[in-house]
Amino acid sequence: MTILVTGGAGFIGANFVLDWLAHSDETVVNLDKLTYAGNLDNLSSLTGNTQHVFVQGDIGDSALVERLLEEHRPRAILNFAAESHVDRSIHGPQAFIDTNIVGTFRLLEAVRAYVKGLASDSLQAFRFLHVSTDEVYGSLAKDEAAFTERHAYEPNSPYSASKAASDHLVRAYHHTYGLPVLTTNCSNNYGPYHFPEKLIPLMIVNALAGEALPVYGDGQQIRDWLYVKDHCSAIRRVLEAGSVGEVYNVGGWNEKTNLEIVHTVCALLDELRPRADGQPYHAQISYVTDRPGHDRRYAIDARKLERELGWKPAETFETGIRKTVQWYLDNQDWVRNIQSGAYREWVEKNYAGRRA
Ligand code: NAD
Ligand code: TYD
Repeated sequence: MTILVTGGAGFIGANFVLDWLAHSDETVVNLDKLTYAGNLDNLSSLTGNTQHVFVQGDIGDSALVERLLEEHRPRAILNFAAESHVDRSIHGPQAFIDTNIVGTFRLLEAVRAYVKGLASDSLQAFRFLHVSTDEVYGSLAKDEAAFTERHAYEPNSPYSASKAASDHLVRAYHHTYGLPVLTTNCSNNYGPYHFPEKLIPLMIVNALAGEALPVYGDGQQIRDWLYVKDHCSAIRRVLEAGSVGEVYNVGGWNEKTNLEIVHTVCALLDELRPRADGQPYHAQISYVTDRPGHDRRYAIDARKLERELGWKPAETFETGIRKTVQWYLDNQDWVRNIQSGAYREWVEKNYAGRRA
């Protein structure tokens, strides 16, 4: 048996592939374009593992996807591939439209053709699992109830709008063509292999480098945080037992303000790798110009997944963030390999224009 994972060299995809191969003897075909966010170092522990077949390519390359489906005959496809960073979507939305919308559409078309050729028992078992985000639901006021699966879609950034469009296409391919789909909408992930353009790894990396810790606006925006391996276990569970056509919200019940997150990271670094001058890392915090259209609060109600499929996160925020900070301390080479010219150009582009 084989599964096809797209975007499996990125943060969550790579964690998923590693997790999958630790739990299963099924082969994983991993289709990834290797954009700036794709990194084969994330998968270096799989060198020589014949259960992992890596293919560099685009989910929007129909001929390639059709060939891979014919050749490997996967019993499931898990679509992680996406442009994923809100700030990049503000600076340049085109790639988000190309991959998240057009790419997902082309992938769905290829899958629609593929499943037509499946025998009825294979079709019964086949699943297309689309990995999405809570950001499609928009922004919550402080006292509003957390997002359920029935919350209206109100995306506010080019990123979340492009993910919302992909979710709608996936839904439509189920309703119109009977494609056996599952969709997961997850809150903010954190953990190993997280690209240091995102809040938590950026703060760890900048703190250790003695650089400013850029907090957008007042730092009171709220996100719900989930340790990435818990997201992987949720996806495995939904793939295994989710009802076709259903949407499952995935979250960690960990609502935190950005400022709380930054202070937690600083406190852990004070303990695990104190500054040479004895000063606390939080002295490096710098309030900078806010992100345009910045969503104030996300919160996920993950009760459906718990009630129907018995899933719960294994990590608390306290255990997960400690593991994460320790991972970055132990994997400085991984960080250094990422800090290429392209990464530095991004940092310059995103932060130089923000007034402290
Ligand atoms: P990421 O940016 O770290 O990785 C994305 C991966 O997709 C990269 O390896 C990249 O090379 C690959 N990719 C991009 N365009 C491609 C294309 N056209 N064809 C093939 N591969 C392509 O993203 P991530 O944080 O790992 O997110 C994975 C998925 O999970 C995304 O769909 C994202 O929307 C969703 N998600 C992320 C979070 C989060 O907190 N990071 C939360 C909820 C949902
Ligand atoms: P991010 O990790 O980009 O995830 P998302 O925007 O998808 O939730 O950002 C998380 C929060 O942290 C978000 O409210 C923006 C904020 N943030 C900062 O304050 N400073 C930063 O340098 C970055 C990258 C994010």
